[in-house]
Amino acid sequence: MSRYLFDNTGAETGGRFHALESCYDSFSRRQLELTGLASGWKCLEVGAGSGSLGDWLGEQVGGSGDVTITDLEPSWAIPRQRPDHVRLLQHDIARDPLPGEGYDLVHARLVLLHLPDRLRVLERLVDALRPGGWLVLEEFDCGWTPVLAAPGQEAQDLFERVHTALMGLLEDAGADPLWGRRVLAAMARTGLEDLAAATYAEAWPGGGTGIALHRHNIDQVAERLIASGIKPGELDGFRALLEDRRFVVNSYPLISVRGRRPSERTDR
Ligand SMILES: C[S@@+](CC[C@H](N)C(=O)[O-])C[C@H]1O[C@@H](n2cnc3c(N)ncnc32)[C@H](O)[C@@H]1O
Repeated sequence: MSRYLFDNTGAETGGRFHALESCYDSFSRRQLELTGLASGWKCLEVGAGSGSLGDWLGEQVGGSGDVTITDLEPSWAIPRQRPDHVRLLQHDIARDPLPGEGYDLVHARLVLLHLPDRLRVLERLVDALRPGGWLVLEEFDCGWTPVLAAPGQEAQDLFERVHTALMGLLEDAGADPLWGRRVLAAMARTGLEDLAAATYAEAWPGGGTGIALHRHNIDQVAERLIASGIKPGELDGFRALLEDRRFVVNSYPLISVRGRRPSERTDR
């Protein structure tokens, strides 16, 4: 059984995917283009969520290419129309056999962070590449979300208290909230070459699209937050803060790392 904390059966999922797409898709597309992404490429998009980036890959590679989009719970990606060279699969990257091999590009955003067995999954993703193929992993570093403006110290303290409790729940579920800062070294240890990374963050003002990610996340696990010691009134105060234009918090920094499998494999 998956221990993924924010499983896609939750009513908050659509809002979560909307926030992620709005804030990070344009940055992710730029990072994917830096691999030389071209028509005819064979790509694997793992843990695709709404499928927005997988479908964009389908447009880039065209009909001579091939894109497989996977998710543990792919229902949010099903409604989108797709051409024949783009297929959507229900697939558990931690357990199921890989859906293919010899990929020119494998991409996963905000997936391995949640997987207790992330290093083994990373090795599997590397194995799925053709020699010279690219792996692009994009992950949050949840340890750097400074409050940039607040109506008062109490508000700042409240944000930090509830956010810290949420990070505790993620860790209990086997996630690594600091995985973003560890990805490049982990990819290097697999033998990938030409490693490069870039990080994107922006200010999230109260009432905006990005900051709503926090609301969807806490709403989905509200009962567990209360069981962990957060008071219902604190959750209400947190929700109000997220709507307050005087409150601004840094987005989660998304660290995008790319590396390619050596043309001649070396022993790992
Ligand atoms: C935080 S969401 C990110 C979605 C999308 N990649 C994005 O960045 O917008 C994590 C996604 O990973 C999927 N996921 C979690 N565990 C998975 C697994 N073992 N195999 C495949 N997908 C998984 C979830 O169902 C969810 O759609």
